[in-house]
Amino acid sequence: MITINENYLKLQASYLFSDIARRVARFQDENPDKEVIKLGIGDVTKGLTPTVINAFHKAVDEMADDATFRGYGPEQGYEFLREAIVQNDFQSRGANITANEVFISDGAKCDTGNIQEIFSTDITIAIPDPVYPVYLDTNVMAGRTGIFENGRYQGLVYLDSTKENNFVPTLPKEKVDLVYLCFPNNPTGSTATKEELAEWVQYARENKALILFDAAYEAFIQNTDIPKSIYEIEGADEVALEFRSFSKNAGFTGTRCAYTVVPEKCVAYDSEGNPQSLHALWNRRHCTKFNGVSYPVQKAAAAVYSPEGKQECKERIDYYMKNAQLICKTMDELGYSYVGGENSPYIWIDGKTDSWEFFDMLLNKAAVVCTPGAGFGKCGNGYIRISAFNSHENVEKATLRLTEALS
Ligand code: MLT
Repeated sequence: MITINENYLKLQASYLFSDIARRVARFQDENPDKEVIKLGIGDVTKGLTPTVINAFHKAVDEMADDATFRGYGPEQGYEFLREAIVQNDFQSRGANITANEVFISDGAKCDTGNIQEIFSTDITIAIPDPVYPVYLDTNVMAGRTGIFENGRYQGLVYLDSTKENNFVPTLPKEKVDLVYLCFPNNPTGSTATKEELAEWVQYARENKALILFDAAYEAFIQNTDIPKSIYEIEGADEVALEFRSFSKNAGFTGTRCAYTVVPEKCVAYDSEGNPQSLHALWNRRHCTKFNGVSYPVQKAAAAVYSPEGKQECKERIDYYMKNAQLICKTMDELGYSYVGGENSPYIWIDGKTDSWEFFDMLLNKAAVVCTPGAGFGKCGNGYIRISAFNSHENVEKATLRLTEALS
């Protein structure tokens, strides 16, 4: 008899964003004349930039010519992209990451979800609350938690991110083996200072722990004092992996390209306490289960690092950040407190009521979609997340509707 992985039965109903999409579709069915404005899932709305799309087209044409055609590429990604990444994203900021330590993939969601496979099932994991649901759900699926009770899975160490700590979790009192961190944070939009990240790096070094650092939103950082990479902290390359994405900085949500940095110095331990290279393990996993991102997509991603590509992507970021400013201004006027929106495309608003009720109210009264904070964890209850990814016109319209619905 075929049996299932019963850990899946512990999962909460459905994936947050699928749940929201279903509710919105139902609302739209029942209200076909209403124009719904989506400020929920963090999906970009502007097309790929001219420089990126030109590189993409050119590479597609190369694929049609026997002389330039490419079959299977290196699983880890083409050298031209890995080199551009390390020079621009790390070495230029004083972080000594090499191309060999970069693994190109089809998404930071997949990478942050898949990485847990290389760790033992009996490790202690610290997960922020609220949190991007992928970190949590993939560990539930792998059997690293108990049942869900009172809004939390048993067996995990939750790191509360609340008003009290400025939405930057403090070090756990107990010893943990694996820590998930995300800055600029999804969902709260908070950022961590160099000093705060240095405390985590020190904790990891002292406890032989590992940090999984999700920096998918680094391009939105405006304040030059805020670190963009954990490798700007000394010693982090011994205790941290970093996840990056072309989705939000260059509009690749539908094109798919991301990368994970696994430094050669990073180790985890076998049952006898011997250090084992995480680079070797992840490489083995990647080569076995992944055949690389397509050549045209990698060419398009490399174009993001050309001088023109950088300028165009910066303009895209500025465009979305202008939306974020308008959302923040509206919330100030309405007297709602919030965090984020300054160095992040997300604004985390204290809705002063149940998150899902607030979500339904906004949908029904304003036809605006947000994301209920409760979907990101117990500490998210009472909050909603508004995303700045949409056109100026739609964000302007949405803020007018919010003002009407909330005042
Ligand atoms: C979000 O809205 O939290 C993200 O866009 C989802 C994702 O990137 O997978």
